[in-house]
Amino acid sequence: MSDSFHLENKVALVTGGASGIGAATARELTRAGAEVIIADINQAAAESFAKEVPGSRAAAMDVTDAASIARVFEGVSKLDILVNNAGIGLVGDISRTSEEDFERVMRVNVTSVFLVTRAALPLLLASHGSIVNIGSVAGSVGVKQRFAYCASKGAVQAITRQIAVDYPKELRVNCIAPGTVETPFVEGYLEKYHAHEKEKVRAELVARQPIGRLGTPEDVASLVRFLCSKEAEFINGAVVPIDGGWTAA
Ligand SMILES: NC(=O)c1ccc[n+]([C@@H]2O[C@H](COP(=O)([O-])OP(=O)(O)OC[C@H]3O[C@@H](n4cnc5c(N)ncnc54)[C@H](O)[C@@H]3O)[C@@H](O)[C@H]2O)c1
Repeated sequence: MSDSFHLENKVALVTGGASGIGAATARELTRAGAEVIIADINQAAAESFAKEVPGSRAAAMDVTDAASIARVFEGVSKLDILVNNAGIGLVGDISRTSEEDFERVMRVNVTSVFLVTRAALPLLLASHGSIVNIGSVAGSVGVKQRFAYCASKGAVQAITRQIAVDYPKELRVNCIAPGTVETPFVEGYLEKYHAHEKEKVRAELVARQPIGRLGTPEDVASLVRFLCSKEAEFINGAVVPIDGGWTAA
């Protein structure tokens, strides 16, 4: 990657940047030369991670709270890249999903993209910036027992396409749809729902990805870097799968 996909003099903000895909993305964007704001609800984790990553700084942000988002943007005068990555999962089919849980998932995974992007928009328009939304294969295909999660990630894809048609020349916006990626998100799911059969279920997660492994946060981070780079300037409004062949099957 060293000769291509440079992001020098760019300022990026990564939501949920203290863990998993967001953390790998923050690291990769700094490696590409960008200055990165690691925005996370877990302030302690964001601060300790930012200390490890030269070129980054932490910001306490709850992506579901417009006031919290506004406070962070008060301290940002230039922004070239926004990565809407913060998100949560929920297991359950429609009959087992409470209204409260459904609304929580939609708020963290969808309303957040609306609120953070709206707050960032003036800066992104000024810089002719790039937005990358972290969706999921769950927005492209049905995944068993993921009613609310699938609904939320479908909306992230729709938001991506809609913003692309309103601002086709002013900025770029794309969505990445990862398959299962080895992060604390997946470990938490295994621990919570399958504590006594973790390895069996992990093998099932691997089996649905024809390549035969889980994704790594770095796999996704490399794609974020590419999509934000000049080399990707013809890519707009796209949903890009990165799933080891899952949705090709
Ligand atoms: N891991 C996977 O298999 C996978 C697959 C497809 C898509 N995704 C998506 O990738 C994104 C990141 O997932 P991950 O696996 O790295 O998760 P993770 O749990 O490792 O990290 C999520 C981060 O988001 C932060 N966060 C949660 N709620 C927040 C809020 N309200 N405001 C600000 N920050 C908040 C958390 O503190 C955490 O640092 C999510 O949108 C997820 O849906 C993950």
